Amino acid sequence: MKIMVIFGTRPEAIKMCPVIKELKKQGEIECKVCLTGQHKEMLLQVMNLFKIEADYNLEIMRKNQTLSMILINIMQNLDEIMEREKPDLVLVHGDTSSSFAAGLSAFYHGIPIGHVEAGLRTYNMKSPYPEEFNRQAVDLITDLYFAPTKLARQQLIREGKKRENVFVTGNTVIDALKTTVRKDYQNEIFDWCSDSRVLLLTAHRRENVGKPMENIFEAVKKICLNYPDVKVIYPIHKNPEIRKIAKRIFSDSNQIKVIEPLDVYDFHNFMDKSYFILTDSGGIQEEAPALGKPVLVLRDTTERPEGIEAGTLKLVGTEIESIYQGASKLLEDETTYRKMSNAVNPYGDGLASKRIANIIIDYFKRK
Ligand code: UD1
Ligand code: UDP
Repeated sequence: MKIMVIFGTRPEAIKMCPVIKELKKQGEIECKVCLTGQHKEMLLQVMNLFKIEADYNLEIMRKNQTLSMILINIMQNLDEIMEREKPDLVLVHGDTSSSFAAGLSAFYHGIPIGHVEAGLRTYNMKSPYPEEFNRQAVDLITDLYFAPTKLARQQLIREGKKRENVFVTGNTVIDALKTTVRKDYQNEIFDWCSDSRVLLLTAHRRENVGKPMENIFEAVKKICLNYPDVKVIYPIHKNPEIRKIAKRIFSDSNQIKVIEPLDVYDFHNFMDKSYFILTDSGGIQEEAPALGKPVLVLRDTTERPEGIEAGTLKLVGTEIESIYQGASKLLEDETTYRKMSNAVNPYGDGLASKRIANIIIDYFKRK
């Protein structure tokens, strides 16, 4: 049987490379990898690290691409590939425009779809935007649902998806995380901040670009001004809009280091070495609980309530004052810090990819 795995952004690559590795181990499966190229440098960093060569790369990324451009270019390119390869199953991941476009293309070609990380929901179409739409839309046309948690499965079933097609697998990000963190990890940047409490910052959400992003950066600056023993490392997203705002707000601070995106091996170890994390990322909300690192989530909603329940994540939104207060509490109150630093892992045992491969093999046997 032939499976085509299609994705195009950094987080999808981090979460799908372990699945590809597992599929490639199975004798009865022919696994083809198609990159949409929605991301470029940030995607290839991951592919190189996992040493996976793609069969196709649509290379659709354009500077400041719009959602329509991403969708149209991927779908147009995939037509020919679907016709040529005729896969028995297309695997997509999560909630990006690449997942939506690839899922829709498979649907139009009558090819069954497996959705990894299915069932995450905020039920708010504006937050995260457009991801909530993308994941709900993919789930409308999915045949095999790989839900990372019980909650994700319950949500899918409540929406009317057939029980026998929804599997709880754990999140494949834990599979990746198990291979990266090293207690003896070193990086020369730690010389710069060895005497400080290090905060790790990431921010890239489309709905945050503009005023919310300015607020986030102003809040980080305020934290630095009021806590001289704090230093902030910010591996900045490649989005030029975000870079413009960061340059304007951060250029005069010597407590903040804006650096290029890290590869995931380095990033996981930076997380492990940080005091706490400020982020609007989805994936980081899943990784931090496993590492016992408190996270201030720079968003108003989350589709990852498991981390909130576990006590590691706190939603602080995108207002300067709420971010600052959240950070102050962690910097000053030992008890709060300790409570949020409990290592818990609601996202599985690192064997999600293996389960996904087994479920796919069973599915074809049943067919
Ligand atoms: C995309 C996903 C988002 C995911 C994020 C992960 C959609 C709609 N958004 O958002 O769900 O959380 O990826 O990071 O699918 N760029 C580069 N090089 C790169 C990557 C991006 O130069 O390797 C620049 C380009 O100018 C591009 C811009 O960043 O136009 C934004 O990239 P895009 O994929 O459109 O959106 P993200 O914000 O990355
Ligand atoms: N990440 C990385 N390098 C960085 C920042 C993040 O490898 O400089 C990893 C991080 O560990 C997580 C993933 O990228 O696995 C999250 O990606 P992102 O925040 O871009 O997207 P989201 O998860 O919000 O869709």
